[in-house]
Amino acid sequence: MMMCKTKLWSVLALCFVLSIWKMYTSVCKGPSPLPNNRGEWPAQDSLMKEEMCHHNRCIGLSSWDWFCDHFDASVNCLLTPENSDIPPEVLQWWLKLQRSQDGSQIQKIIKKLFDLLQSPTARVQGVAQCGTCAVVGNSGRLRGSKYGQKIDSHQFVMRMNTAQIAGFQEDVGTRTTHHFMYPESAVNLHPGIHLVLVPFKPLDLKWLASALSTGDIQQTYKRVKQFIKADKSKVLILYPGFLKYIQDKWTKYHGRYPSTGLIALIFAIHTCTQVSAFGFGANSNGNWHHYWEDNRYGGAFRKTGVHNATFELQLIERLAIEGKLSFYK
Ligand SMILES: *[C@@H]1O[C@H](CO)[C@@H](O)[C@H](O)[C@H]1NC(C)=O
Repeated sequence: MMMCKTKLWSVLALCFVLSIWKMYTSVCKGPSPLPNNRGEWPAQDSLMKEEMCHHNRCIGLSSWDWFCDHFDASVNCLLTPENSDIPPEVLQWWLKLQRSQDGSQIQKIIKKLFDLLQSPTARVQGVAQCGTCAVVGNSGRLRGSKYGQKIDSHQFVMRMNTAQIAGFQEDVGTRTTHHFMYPESAVNLHPGIHLVLVPFKPLDLKWLASALSTGDIQQTYKRVKQFIKADKSKVLILYPGFLKYIQDKWTKYHGRYPSTGLIALIFAIHTCTQVSAFGFGANSNGNWHHYWEDNRYGGAFRKTGVHNATFELQLIERLAIEGKLSFYK
């Protein structure tokens, strides 16, 4: 009798432990990625998904962990030919960002772009996997920082928008492996650098195809570069659903949509083993200008009303506290 009771208790205890374990792994790992609408899931695609955006930093953390509450390992980071279906709720959100009229042509636009880029292997190799990454924002805080060598010592160096290097090497470094941009912030790149397009509207995808070929688009909501110099085989395009995920889970609708800097940081959190953030936040005088600008009131970052700089900075501070990145101020 006594024996039986002990056994029963052990079984119950075991069940309890197992169910707790099950709960916590399922919550933390998130749902498994699903095959696309056509039901196919090519081997390469699954490999890419595993390697690119499933660097799961949430395993081993509980569901009430702050980071785990924000992070979703199952999200797609990149738009690829295999992964070009955009769910209606994502499309709807995406079209509103910059007031695009019509998303009906989107599949045609994507296909045309990938026909032009045609380099499936570069996409796999292009994402920073299992490496150290420096994400370099453009804040005036970098001026005089002497972080150049430190930045260059990372395997991957990610910069954004109109980031400048010439004349600032000592503070910002010399290397770039990934350059995040959108049409209105585009710059020419040296060979070998990944252009990472952050598409805020369908026209941005159209523009990239145009700027790498015929040059027929010169205007979005403002004049944009007609042609761009960039390695066609190294282009990466962020998945619109990835932007929505950042807005849903990270900025939680503070600001109309997340800034390029925050997008690059979250991308790095998903794809690198170690992330260092440089050039984020105001300088010591509280100014939000770019490091190459002398006008301390310049740099509209804070004044546009599109992004909530305060909230984004709080997120970065918290990520640092949680040990998910090193924040170099
Ligand atoms: C930005 O976010 C902060 C919370 O961190 C909030 O207090 C503030 O009102 C927000 N600003 C705007 C302009 O929405």
